Amino acid sequence: MTGTSQTGTDIKKATFLLRGGKCVAIPTETVYGLAANAFDSAAVASIFEIKNRPFFDPLIVHIGNADQISKLAVSFPEKAKSLTEKFWPGPLTIILPKSDSVPDIVCAGLPSVGIRMPDHKLTLDLLNSLEFPLAAPSANPFGYISPTIAQHVVDQLGNKIEYILDGGPCRVGLESTIVSFVSEKPTVLRFGGIDLEDIEAVIGKVIVEHKNSEAPTAPGMLSSHYAPLKKLLFGRLDDLISQNTGLNYGVLALSDLKGQKGIILSESGNLKEAAQNLFAAMRLMDNSSYDLILTEEMPDHGLGRAINDRLSRASY
Ligand code: TXA
Ligand code: MG
Repeated sequence: MTGTSQTGTDIKKATFLLRGGKCVAIPTETVYGLAANAFDSAAVASIFEIKNRPFFDPLIVHIGNADQISKLAVSFPEKAKSLTEKFWPGPLTIILPKSDSVPDIVCAGLPSVGIRMPDHKLTLDLLNSLEFPLAAPSANPFGYISPTIAQHVVDQLGNKIEYILDGGPCRVGLESTIVSFVSEKPTVLRFGGIDLEDIEAVIGKVIVEHKNSEAPTAPGMLSSHYAPLKKLLFGRLDDLISQNTGLNYGVLALSDLKGQKGIILSESGNLKEAAQNLFAAMRLMDNSSYDLILTEEMPDHGLGRAINDRLSRASY
């Protein structure tokens, strides 16, 4: 496709395109997704093509109603059910053993499937007016920063997709927390919009396996990800500043720029607000005149963990 995509809130138009096997960008509370019919292998293949995403990286299947799980997965453990009852719709993805009705391309050939019910009115209405769930990764070129407003999608994929459903700025601002129920113990594969503390409050201790890796056990845990084109360093701000004296850098800080130029994520040091602003701020820095981006390590709890995960991958 050539030309520029249209942006709007027309669910009918989105359903028409999706039923026709096309991709449509959709808003969620976390980040914008690039969606297609999860049961249509050819439509799903075009997601990979548009994003330039390697086929070994599986997609999350989005549903509007928890009843759809029985069609997608062959088992649904009690603990997974407790989490979905508590956090759906919301920024939680569960990984379950997949059923045969999910095409292999969606799950990159794995015997499991990622499932999520997003918390966004427009997209829930869309999902509930379709006869099929939507496979959707974040709507960015593979490896780049995820989009949190419709314009980010226009900027990067605007010549490749016909329609972007515009649901305004994403409320959470970074991706869902992923919890796998494929092996015996529940395992967190990615920190995200739901805090680890809140997950453990519902199902008890979980294993955390989000560590950076060149050869991930689960795909999508690649070390280098969420990355701007410019060089980005991540750590204690005082250290980064003293190590880079004289260079043309900008600082991305939680609440205090320490007298340097750059962007503050939250005046009051609120991690929720910082998460909302994170990806847009990284894009601004990437498009600025700085040569180098210095990013501050957040406190290691709650959303701070998810922010640190994204920044450390961006710095890799
Ligand atoms: O918040 C989100 O999760 C957003 C919105 C659009 O829903 N989606 C998102 O998708 O972040 P994506 O493709 O950028 O990241 C999905 C991650 C990937 O790292 C992928 O490897 C992992 O989920 N994943 C999906 N299915 C999996 C599976 N069966 N086993 C292990 N990891 C899986
Ligand atoms: Mg992504």
